[in-house]
Amino acid sequence: FSAFLTDTFQRQHNYLRISLTEKCNLRCLYCMPEEGVPQSPPRELLTTPEIYLLSSTFVSQGVTKIRLTGGEPTVRRDILPLMHQVGSLRSQGLQELCITTNGISLHRKLDSMVEAGLTGVNLSLDTLDPFQFQIMTRRKGFEAVMKSIERILEMNRLGAGIKLKINCVVMRGLNEREIIPFVELGREQDLEVRFIEYMPFDGNKWSQGKMLPYREMLDMIRAKYPTLRKVQDHKNDTSKTYEIPGFVGRMGFITSMTHNFCGTCNRLRITSDGNLKVCLFGNAEVSLRDILRKSNNGEPIDEKAFEAMMQIEMDRPQGLTSSPRPLGGTEHEKELLDVIG
Ligand code: GTP
Ligand code: 5AD
Ligand code: SF4
Repeated sequence: FSAFLTDTFQRQHNYLRISLTEKCNLRCLYCMPEEGVPQSPPRELLTTPEIYLLSSTFVSQGVTKIRLTGGEPTVRRDILPLMHQVGSLRSQGLQELCITTNGISLHRKLDSMVEAGLTGVNLSLDTLDPFQFQIMTRRKGFEAVMKSIERILEMNRLGAGIKLKINCVVMRGLNEREIIPFVELGREQDLEVRFIEYMPFDGNKWSQGKMLPYREMLDMIRAKYPTLRKVQDHKNDTSKTYEIPGFVGRMGFITSMTHNFCGTCNRLRITSDGNLKVCLFGNAEVSLRDILRKSNNGEPIDEKAFEAMMQIEMDRPQGLTSSPRPLGGTEHEKELLDVIG
């Protein structure tokens, strides 16, 4: 395993998340304001050849899993050729190619993505009620999302083997009464519903009152299904997995607010404008885009030169030598910890 993908806590970063765009076709209450988020000028965004070059470099250094995220990754016009290129890295050691999507247009693109080598879909869905969907996402599209889920299950019945996880952000007073119906999805379908604690982002009007701690969700589920039991998690999972005997599917909890899981996090992140981040909360960023475009009239340099230059960047203190941070380090987090006690 490449030394520069191992940090000082001996965490091996073999999982790379790449954001393809900041744009989104929904406006979930907990994520974006109605007017959307500010967009970087197009020339600052990574191009598809650059994304391919970065992916291939990271795979050559030991990355085995790539997740494409956003914003909403499917709004990127060239998502399919991009996925086909990244998918071709399977022959070089890439084992998993996943996407995190809201599912609005996935049903139209899924077949081609699977052909490209897609192995997993994390699909965001917070409600099973079309009206509530419109409230929570500020847009229509519930039927389209359900169509995507149907298509995944259908392809899996034909042997596609797409690992499906449904991400459900739980907000008190809005969708907590849907926890049980979401659990029910797993009775007959092979999928994992993950309940996510509502997290504060800049300007999402977070309040402690709206956040449902995972313990509370667990109590609700156990009251209805006393046989609920814990399942052993994989080494680097950020979620805690549970099952109900007799159910095909499982459920998980992402406890970002009440249980810090930094110690086992193995994710590297590349933002849509090409910055490398080791941590979602981290402030240390290295611009891979600038390294890629350096002294070559804006055209990407070749892979060997890039690797050599990146090694130099990584050896600097702001590179991957940073440690997992205990939460509470920044002013923002101190405020949060005060709020959640
Ligand atoms: P897999 O484990 O590969 O299924 O993916 P994931 O759960 O990391 O990714 P996904 O895009 O589905 O994100 C689910 C939730 O986890 C989102 O709410 C993310 O914000 C959150 N998340 C992902 N990684 C981290 C992390 O390192 N720290 C924290 N606090 N939250 C994270
Ligand atoms: N709190 C928790 N999860 C969030 N997500 C987006 N915003 C928040 C938030 N404020 C989730 C989405 C998606 C995943 C990538 O992040 O629902 O499933
Ligand atoms: Fe944010 Fe995802 Fe909702 Fe889009 S679909 S607004 S990116 S949470």
